[in-house]
Amino acid sequence: MIDYSKYYSKLATGIKASEVRELLAIISQRKEVISFAGGIPDPALLPREELAEIARDVILRYGDVALQYSETKGIREVRETLCDYLHKKKNIHCEPEGIVITTGSQSALDLIARVFIDPGDIVITENPTYLAAIGAFKNAGARIIGIPLDDKGMRTDLLEKKLMEMPKEQIERVKYIYTNPIAQNPAGVSMSFDRKKHLMEIASEYNLLIVEDDPYSYLVFEEGVDKTNLKSMDKENRVIYLGTASKILSPGLRIGWVVSSTDIARRIELVKQYVDLHSPSLSQIILSEAIKQGIIDKVLAKALPMYKSKRDTMLKAMKENFPDYVWYSKPIGGLFVFAYIHREGFDSGALLKKAIDLYKVAYVPGGSFHVDGHGKNSMRLNYSYPSHEQIHIGVQRLAKLILESTN
Ligand SMILES: Cc1ncc(COP(=O)(O)O)c(C=O)c1O
Repeated sequence: MIDYSKYYSKLATGIKASEVRELLAIISQRKEVISFAGGIPDPALLPREELAEIARDVILRYGDVALQYSETKGIREVRETLCDYLHKKKNIHCEPEGIVITTGSQSALDLIARVFIDPGDIVITENPTYLAAIGAFKNAGARIIGIPLDDKGMRTDLLEKKLMEMPKEQIERVKYIYTNPIAQNPAGVSMSFDRKKHLMEIASEYNLLIVEDDPYSYLVFEEGVDKTNLKSMDKENRVIYLGTASKILSPGLRIGWVVSSTDIARRIELVKQYVDLHSPSLSQIILSEAIKQGIIDKVLAKALPMYKSKRDTMLKAMKENFPDYVWYSKPIGGLFVFAYIHREGFDSGALLKKAIDLYKVAYVPGGSFHVDGHGKNSMRLNYSYPSHEQIHIGVQRLAKLILESTN
């Protein structure tokens, strides 16, 4: 038997095998378990017929492009369609030369980390924040500083305070502020317009870049929520905007996009050529046709009322079943409720196996979303994938787990 360990890189050796990840990987085969774990769209929203027709048409009509290798930064016509769409929907101005199409926004997070981070550099994030962004930044050797959030998003007053306290040499090492300003994963909150303005002012004052990760602004179902994108407020070209087709069309297409300055786009392109040459040509053209035919708008017209009512079902079930020492967010959009169980010693990660095996319910332990080792007493709960009935029963099971583990 070969001992492979001496061959592995520090990166591969350093990534800890996570029991949580392994447990969650097998629950899809266990039908009796109700899963609140993934960030998965409701299957009824996937536009099967429309995409089947588009795929057939695209292969027959544009086979020479769709089935071939293509440009690293994305097929030009697709970039043009996307720029148009972002301008119309988000008031984001972009040039086809300033956009790079990526393999989902997860690969954009990885590319951005490779482009900006040297080991020991600093990234500032919300705390809690998207766990796989933390992973991508850490893989590149980043140190992460977390800023608390409340129901108006990142506490920019605390961000400013933090920066004021930091020595100049440390600020020099801050490569970007990563934020998920609208319907944040995992907290489901949105930044108020005043905070967005404040964040842009701080970035300008301290000369910092901002990475705006925006999968969920299309999925805000409450009225009166500010949906202005930071990128649309960006006069100095310091916002790097990430979008994705995953939550509004299909995650299986694996298509995302990064909008930035042409200079940064060029760097991303240079790094990307050695990662995957380009993102799938076929998926790119399918996306562009789906945009032109208004398929995304049709998906969203169904998604918004559906997710709102699923969120309502989850919150109602929580209100009825959870003890009063559980605090949970009231998301204004997106796919998740985030909960803290305020009882000494409650550890959602340590309880996950029991939750799955005994109580037949799964969630993502909240510790992985915190950048400072806190949050062991928290969990992220997805409401987009399970049915109303599953949400109802699953929350009852969770409540039982919480009650039986805390007295
Ligand atoms: C905040 C955030 N960023 C990025 C991603 C990655 O999405 P994808 O790679 O499917 O575009 C997700 C997925 O859940 C997410 O929630």
